[in-house]
Amino acid sequence: LDSINAKSLHTKSERTCSIDRGKHKAVCKIAILGFGTVGSAVARILAEHAPDHLRLIHICNRDVNRKKVDWIPPQVQWTERFNDVLSSDADVIVELIGGLQPAEDWIRCALLAGKSVVTANKQVIADCGPELLNLAKQRNCRLAFGAAVAGGVPVISAIQDGLAGDEISKICGILNGTCNYILSEMGDSGATFTTALVEAQKRGYAEADPREDIDGLDARAKLAILARIGLHAKVCTTRIFCRAISAIEPVDFEFAKQLGCTIRQVSTAELNKGVLFAAVQPALVALSSPFGLARGSQNIVVCTGKFGGETTFQGLGAGGNPTAVAVVSDILAMAANTNVSSNGVSPSHDISPRVSNDFVTSHYVRFSTSHTMRAVSALVKALETSKINVGSVLANRSRSSKFSAVTVQACTPSALQKALKQGRPSDIFQFYRIIPILN
Ligand code: HSE
Repeated sequence: LDSINAKSLHTKSERTCSIDRGKHKAVCKIAILGFGTVGSAVARILAEHAPDHLRLIHICNRDVNRKKVDWIPPQVQWTERFNDVLSSDADVIVELIGGLQPAEDWIRCALLAGKSVVTANKQVIADCGPELLNLAKQRNCRLAFGAAVAGGVPVISAIQDGLAGDEISKICGILNGTCNYILSEMGDSGATFTTALVEAQKRGYAEADPREDIDGLDARAKLAILARIGLHAKVCTTRIFCRAISAIEPVDFEFAKQLGCTIRQVSTAELNKGVLFAAVQPALVALSSPFGLARGSQNIVVCTGKFGGETTFQGLGAGGNPTAVAVVSDILAMAANTNVSSNGVSPSHDISPRVSNDFVTSHYVRFSTSHTMRAVSALVKALETSKINVGSVLANRSRSSKFSAVTVQACTPSALQKALKQGRPSDIFQFYRIIPILN
């Protein structure tokens, strides 16, 4: 921040605005930070498909010569220095570099300079969205982040504006395109985890460090944003329980199929009696359900409201073009000076609930044993003492497999884990894995 020459900043009121208020729409000058998958897709739409009043003037990226392409109009300036963008007469700065730093500082500087910001940065918005929105308000500019959750699915504005009349108590969804791609490929075509991940990276779905996707950190930031705008619950991202999808193996899909299910990374946030039940984890979902039918990079968000019941939003949640649509839509709303829904956030009314991942749900339990029948009867007995019932025993259809699995009727994961720990006859069970079954 220190490196920024404050004297070179123009506030919105000081700037000579490029607004042409004649019969044409006001010109909106745009600078893009980050020319990666999403940045270049946004630039392509702005350069080739956007209305004339949206004018791309700057592209800022590291090692910019490596990035230059011939389809960007010659009048667009390429730079490696954020200060060039900050001191330019851009009206809107589009932050698409991702990650916490320097993205957060750059957004803050842009707002301080009175420039509106559009960002797809879920980490920054999850961590300091309300504070940045306040800053935007103070500086009489705007901050929009429609692209931060569910890519091209306009779920932020849908919840903030379209469902504003409801009282939402639960938001459940598939919020990561990379994980959905991997799990649907593993389930449908038997692809290995690694092959599916490499393909998701090639298609531009994955984060620079794909562990963000796989370990659930990306979805958890998105869930924190949705919890704030939909449930008015402030939640620190690190408080949300995450379980990685890398623990899922082909045999889990085989067992799931016997139950008419498949596996997806599911993110859930539910407010109940002042507690926020929140988690991002692999879960068994019915093959015929919207979650089970979601393939590739699709995202789904289901909101449950007191008055409106369930409302579902679905579409492509990752990749350059779908995310660029959300970014350009936010720019258009800003240029038209219409309400971008992010400005409707009222942090002062938000609650700070206790966060728990102890949902009551049925579970799938896989374990490895060489004595299936003995193991199952020992398991039933162990769980019975804790008043937990086994639902069904799944057939091991491959003779070579050492795995067996059962379903367990509704209970909390903590009760189940405790019962398994207490009653686990180690000579029979070598290992077990628990996955919730969501209806
Ligand atoms: N890596 C993210 C995903 C990109 O796969 O969903 C979109 O936020």
